[in-house]
Amino acid sequence: MSKLDAYRSIFDLSGKTALVTGGARGIGNAIAAACSAWGARVVLADLNAEAAEGAARELREAGAAVSARGCDVTRSEAVEALFDALSEEGGVDIIFNNAGVSARIPAENYPDGDLQRMFDLNVHGVFYVMRAAARRWIAAGRPGRIVNMASFAGLVADPLSAPYAASKGAVVQFTRTCAVEWAPHGILVNAIAPGYVRTEMTAHTLDQPEAGAAIRAKTALGRPATPAEIAGAAVFLASGASSYVTGTVLAVDGGWTAM
Ligand SMILES: NC(=O)c1ccc[n+]([C@@H]2O[C@H](COP(=O)([O-])OP(=O)(O)OC[C@H]3O[C@@H](n4cnc5c(N)ncnc54)[C@H](O)[C@@H]3O)[C@@H](O)[C@H]2O)c1
Repeated sequence: MSKLDAYRSIFDLSGKTALVTGGARGIGNAIAAACSAWGARVVLADLNAEAAEGAARELREAGAAVSARGCDVTRSEAVEALFDALSEEGGVDIIFNNAGVSARIPAENYPDGDLQRMFDLNVHGVFYVMRAAARRWIAAGRPGRIVNMASFAGLVADPLSAPYAASKGAVVQFTRTCAVEWAPHGILVNAIAPGYVRTEMTAHTLDQPEAGAAIRAKTALGRPATPAEIAGAAVFLASGASSYVTGTVLAVDGGWTAM
């Protein structure tokens, strides 16, 4: 092996299985495609089972080894059932804890129900998935990777998004704390903090002239990202290239948090 060969495979994911929650569309779907391209077998888990199956079919047609499962990650028993089913197929090595929801509502008018839904998914759902993965890896003495989807809003203020920002702050602290707690078990836990990414979640806001312009002005690169621009960080945090990285929150935000 030449001195360079070891570096040529640092992003290789062949032989690994990755679970992507909320993988039917948007950022999760781009992560699924990128991990497939680097050799991983991928499972898309999404509330919208039909959309997940359609996305999986599309990726399979492109040559990827992708399957789909319906799962509402806000229900801990559904998450446990998902992991039990995956265990029967050999388990998973990499978790992309990506499913999330956002809302832009003035804090003083935020309805109880919306607050509950936000935390059910962005906080409880994220934790259910982390816990289900880690419990099984620890019991099996198996290493693993968890990549949580935080946000710039988990790091700096994001007006009109107080509960969203708070929920992503929780994701940041789940990441740091569980990284330290599970490090002795060989489980690496990191997060990605994207800036604005054009997906179905954000298109409406980005297309409003005033809001779109304000977002561009707060982004050093002057534009939102494409989902594909988040996928490189995801492959990095899932692969051997990041074997000494844990508890970190990698901003992929076009310079938003640098300003
Ligand atoms: N788009 C952005 O600008 C942006 C910026 C920062 C962070 N993020 C975060 O990235 C993640 C993905 O965002 P996106 O823009 O791709 O979102 P999206 O709305 O396009 O996709 C979210 C996916 O999650 C699925 N989902 C929703 N509820 C679920 C549940 N209970 N169980 C399982 N799946 C569920 C949806 O069906 C959908 O397929 C989210 O956590 C979001 O907060 C997005």
